[in-house]
Amino acid sequence: MRIMFLKKAQKAVYDVAEIEKLLNSYASPGTRVEENFPDDFEGSPVEHVLGDQMMLNGLDHIMEAPAIIRKIFWASENGYDAVIQSNTAGMDLMLTRLTERLPVLIERVFQVSLRGLVLRCDSAVRRLEAVESFRKVVCGDPTALTRVEVQEEGVRYAADLVGGQKTGFFLDQRANRIQFGALVREIPYARVLDLFCCSGGWGLRALKAGVAHVTFVDKSRDALGLVERGLAANGFAPERAELHCGDVFDFLAREPDSYDAVVADPPAFVKSRKNLPQAIKAYQKLSRMAWRRLKPGGVLFACSCSHHLAEGDFLNLQADAVAKEHGLAHLIYRGGPAQDHPVLLSMPETSYLKCLGIRKLEAA
Ligand SMILES: C[S@@+](CC[C@H](N)C(=O)[O-])C[C@H]1O[C@@H](n2cnc3c(N)ncnc32)[C@H](O)[C@@H]1O
Repeated sequence: MRIMFLKKAQKAVYDVAEIEKLLNSYASPGTRVEENFPDDFEGSPVEHVLGDQMMLNGLDHIMEAPAIIRKIFWASENGYDAVIQSNTAGMDLMLTRLTERLPVLIERVFQVSLRGLVLRCDSAVRRLEAVESFRKVVCGDPTALTRVEVQEEGVRYAADLVGGQKTGFFLDQRANRIQFGALVREIPYARVLDLFCCSGGWGLRALKAGVAHVTFVDKSRDALGLVERGLAANGFAPERAELHCGDVFDFLAREPDSYDAVVADPPAFVKSRKNLPQAIKAYQKLSRMAWRRLKPGGVLFACSCSHHLAEGDFLNLQADAVAKEHGLAHLIYRGGPAQDHPVLLSMPETSYLKCLGIRKLEAA
């Protein structure tokens, strides 16, 4: 579906009206492109969409916007910063209009000025249309934008909006992280393993919930630098955390410890539909290795952000992994992307994120 979208967009690449028409054919009611940046904001559909999302999320300072653009967010304590990611030649044509209108919208919705705005048009998917890859600080202090702090329900996260991965912070896991925090809070002296931790979304949430210790693993040194900044920003004692830089599979193969909770939140293993079978094997291998590191009664949070992999298939492969380990498990949690990531009913792959909480039963 997404490829079809790209091909269609390519045809209309020089015609903004055509692109608006095309995007509107995919948009859910209330996110029509021409209405998204109206001159008269009050009472407009975009006002309702933003209002709904703020109410649903109970948030007033951090959110992603309605979905005509891939991602955009406001964050930080002392001002609002935004990142816009465009993945197609078609959306690139809207960038000038977006960058002009965004400060006005933010002013109207949040009654604050926009401090920094970054364009992150550097995803690999742009190669499909052979469009140039670029990053640009439209406004704001470029150094400050590499050292932003995102606050999420009492946890402080460090983010680099210019050089960090994707748009600088993984907002889509917000609801799942919060559920995870509530769950580990109930486990006395819990030890947690945060695999593919990036800036420490899950592990820092667990520390805030009061767990005894978190082991963070990621192959990116820059990402672990963000975890260190996050630990300091929250005032967590250094002995409550351990950071490992390296490959998760190697780590799991040599790691002898067991944990009360393990999070496996890898990058998308399915890059195209044709490598789905290999990707399923990789997810299953990961879950089996993570399962072996779980104490009886412990919980595995297994995630997939591959839009080619349906939730049912992800569930099946987890069941298979547990069976192959001769285990027994309860499915205790099923989550998807945060509510400000609208899913188009006509485009099931927009529900790309899967998060399953699997408890290892004592008898297993
Ligand atoms: C989807 S992001 C994780 C998001 C993170 N859990 C969060 O909530 O912010 C995937 C991360 O996996 C890391 N990564 C990718 N392949 C890896 C590997 N084989 N071993 C270790 N880390 C890996 C990347 O550097 C990236 O930080």
